[in-house]
Amino acid sequence: MLVSAKEMLNKAKAGKYAVGQFNINNLEWTKAILLTAQEQNSPVILGVSEGAGKYMCGFKTVADMVKAMIDELGITVPVALHLDHGSYEGAKKCIDAGFSSIMFDGSHYPIEENIAKTKELVGICDRLGLSIEAEVGAIGGEEDGVIGGGEVADPQECKMIADLGVTMLAAGIGNIHGKYPANWAGLRFDTLDAIQKLTGTMPLVLHGGTGIPADMIKKAISLGVSKINVNTECQLAFAAATREYIEAGKDLEGKGFDPRKLLAPGVEAIKATVKEKMELFGSVNKA
Ligand code: 13P
Repeated sequence: MLVSAKEMLNKAKAGKYAVGQFNINNLEWTKAILLTAQEQNSPVILGVSEGAGKYMCGFKTVADMVKAMIDELGITVPVALHLDHGSYEGAKKCIDAGFSSIMFDGSHYPIEENIAKTKELVGICDRLGLSIEAEVGAIGGEEDGVIGGGEVADPQECKMIADLGVTMLAAGIGNIHGKYPANWAGLRFDTLDAIQKLTGTMPLVLHGGTGIPADMIKKAISLGVSKINVNTECQLAFAAATREYIEAGKDLEGKGFDPRKLLAPGVEAIKATVKEKMELFGSVNKA
């Protein structure tokens, strides 16, 4: 079922677990994540960055593929199709294409402009029954050309954006997209705690889920994080499994070059990663 992320995230916040957002890149990625969510009876959010949307021939291609796949695979768990780090224009395109959820990342605008643009998009999403994520304090690292400085969000600004009626709020708390450097200082739980105290029942979003140690993930969930984004970890798992297949010369045996065989170990690796994250986040059997 393609649904907005609102109900699944409100339930997660109340139940003290988190729903995973796993970014998709192609048909195999999408299929692996949907099948795992169904097997684990877990709600799930499919994340699509603007770059991945372009790669997959546009947001409409993505939305139509996801809807058809949910139907053909008989997926009954709640699935949200969500624009990740959307621009103002990208958010509007995804709304038209049939996404059920968008993120408007206005964290690089001055706070007044972030507020004005977020407010307008909140109005549109409300009318259409879509969920909307906003961001305060840029997430560090680089994702599909979107580079953030790794700021720590100002809790008062978080409260201002939360009060606009967004569904969920991403706040920079020292998290970074991609692999964490060896000298990473860890998550700023003091900031997260202050944000949750000011924003109350608002589901909070933790970006940069790849490589955050399990104990930090659990602590973040206990402090109000209800959505955790994972992208790089699935890419690394896919690449490692594909490398192993090729290095073992399996593509040279029989019909091992058939893409349905060649990509199969990578798909299994994504499935294993998603399952592990769903268990860690506590979303198994919460569909
Ligand atoms: P990672 O690639 O670090 O897992 O981050 C994913 C993310 O935050 C998507 O918005």
